[in-house]
Amino acid sequence: MTLNRILLIGGTGNLGTLILKHLLASPSNFTVSVLSRRSANTSHYPAAVKIVQVDDDYPPDQLTPAFSDTDVVISAISMMGMHHQPKFIDACVAAKVKRYIPTEFGLEDLPQWLLDLRPMFKTKHDVRDYLVSKESAGLSWTCVCCNVFFEMGIESGFFQFYWAQKRAVLLNDGELQWPATTLDTVAIAVVRVIEKEELTANKILLIQDFMTSQKEVLNEIEQRTGKWEVQKRELGPWLDEAKEKTRNGQNEELSKLTFAVAREAGDWAKREEYANALLDLPTKPFKKAIEQALEAH
Ligand SMILES: NC(=O)c1ccc[n+]([C@@H]2O[C@H](COP(=O)([O-])OP(=O)(O)OC[C@H]3O[C@@H](n4cnc5c(N)ncnc54)[C@H](OP(=O)(O)O)[C@@H]3O)[C@@H](O)[C@H]2O)c1
Repeated sequence: MTLNRILLIGGTGNLGTLILKHLLASPSNFTVSVLSRRSANTSHYPAAVKIVQVDDDYPPDQLTPAFSDTDVVISAISMMGMHHQPKFIDACVAAKVKRYIPTEFGLEDLPQWLLDLRPMFKTKHDVRDYLVSKESAGLSWTCVCCNVFFEMGIESGFFQFYWAQKRAVLLNDGELQWPATTLDTVAIAVVRVIEKEELTANKILLIQDFMTSQKEVLNEIEQRTGKWEVQKRELGPWLDEAKEKTRNGQNEELSKLTFAVAREAGDWAKREEYANALLDLPTKPFKKAIEQALEAH
């Protein structure tokens, strides 16, 4: 294996914390560094991890030296920091990094109406294009798409479960199934991408733990927490309303647009890019994942 020296950006995040855990647990004996914003708290990093600090706006002249002696840069940066990625990619090329794994970890298909209404997602498209343009400069890339983070989707209201009011909004009866992935599985997939470097170069890879639906998740929630108020909405008018409110500046509606796309992702297991087998990915069954996701309730 030639990809041994790994640098992680966003190592304090929801996903980054788990990527770091699985990098350190890997039998591949990676040398692991994290790129940390100077304002970030680094006290919880284990001693085995080298901390490389840069100013909070990731200045290019600090990135290239930070990426020296690195084979792989993983970006698990927050949505708020995604726009810094072209600078990360330029620094990878300058420092002769071999693989860049961008902040993706979500939808594979980003329809034009979503890009128009949620410009932050355009960054993901632009980064994919930019990475392709850098292949000839010696930088390979891998995008990991997991559709939705399962636990966060349940807890945050993304799947339309509003915990404070015990109210669920089911779209078209809530029966449609979509791919869902637990954070732990996403993190393991990132490590496997590096371990299987030749098979994963310059590819968009689709992964999942299972497919599920709003109805299936609601049944489990109600078994544990009692009856919920259920509102049934037709997708079309519900989505039109969310689009209109977004156009009028109501940003709290943005996640509905993303969920509308995520629930239409279809059966990834039938797609050529489906990579669970290629990555030899250990998946978590629905029952186990929901048990863990609902532990606190
Ligand atoms: N599929 C889904 O359902 C889903 C859901 C949520 C997120 N995602 C994807 O996964 C990626 C990672 O998500 P996450 O929830 O792990 O991210 P997160 O916890 O919000 O943030 C990750 C890290 O980004 C760094 N960072 C850099 N600039 C920042 C800024 N301006 N504000 C806040 N943090 C900043 C921080 O690390 P340092 O302190 O170390 O600098 C932070 O811990 C996202 O970008 C998104 O693409 C997918």
